[in-house]
Amino acid sequence: MNLIFLGAPGAGKGTQAKRAVEKYGIPQISTGDMLREAVAKGTELGKKAKEYMDKGELVPDEVVIGIVKERLQQPDCEKGFILDGFPRTLAQAEALDEMLKELGKKIDAVINIAVPEEEVVKRIVNRRTCKKCGAVYHLIYAPPKEDNKCDKCGGELYQRDDDKEETVRERYRVYKQNTEPLIEYYRKKGVLYDVDGTKDIEGVWEEVVSILDKIK
Ligand code: AP5
Ligand code: MG
Ligand code: ZN
Repeated sequence: MNLIFLGAPGAGKGTQAKRAVEKYGIPQISTGDMLREAVAKGTELGKKAKEYMDKGELVPDEVVIGIVKERLQQPDCEKGFILDGFPRTLAQAEALDEMLKELGKKIDAVINIAVPEEEVVKRIVNRRTCKKCGAVYHLIYAPPKEDNKCDKCGGELYQRDDDKEETVRERYRVYKQNTEPLIEYYRKKGVLYDVDGTKDIEGVWEEVVSILDKIK
């Protein structure tokens, strides 16, 4: 299954993608996570990306397209993959079409997780992420058992640099302008599935599973 999880910042793409990795055994390809890894390592790419990410702007298309192209050629993508946070612009979507064509693959489903702006802000300002394993928590909706400590690996939890309210609102604006048009792009291709992202994590997951079990 070759999947795209589409949705505003904080819609729950990462949360649902991680569950799908467990259930279906295909890797999550999160451009956001890959860029943050490059930032943490202090690579040239990371330094360049950080300037955009801290402002809530998109990293240039050619940079992310290059990263995804390389990643999709790895052997673990042979049985399928979940793109989380890519594509985010029309140019990225078209580049993805090209890449998949070359690899003889196609997208089976685009899961569009819809959540309004105010809910997105509430979710993101209370998000905490594990420094070590990347697990995602929410101080109210999905709290860790022990304060500031990851349930899965004991790692320290931190708040992402771009998770301040002001930056979140800018990210949402960027989403509306650049990424929302992709909903129609994929609807026209007949691969779009809408999910009500305002339900709780379990409720959204049930919707996602019912779609994926049908196309699997
Ligand atoms: P990225 O890391 O992709 O961030 P994003 O798209 O803004 O999305 P988030 O990761 O913030 O949210 P999510 O949907 O994964 O939600 P989550 O599951 O964590 O990108 C960051 C930056 O990198 C971009 O701004 C850009 O600069 C750059 N970038 C990345 N990809 C790029 C690209 N393709 N092109 C150009 N630039 C790119 O959930 C959020 C919180 O809510 C958590 O606390 C979670 O526990 C909680 N939660 C989840 N679901 C629910 C629910 N149903 N009910 C209640 N709480 C919930
Ligand atoms: Mg995410
Ligand atoms: Zn952890």
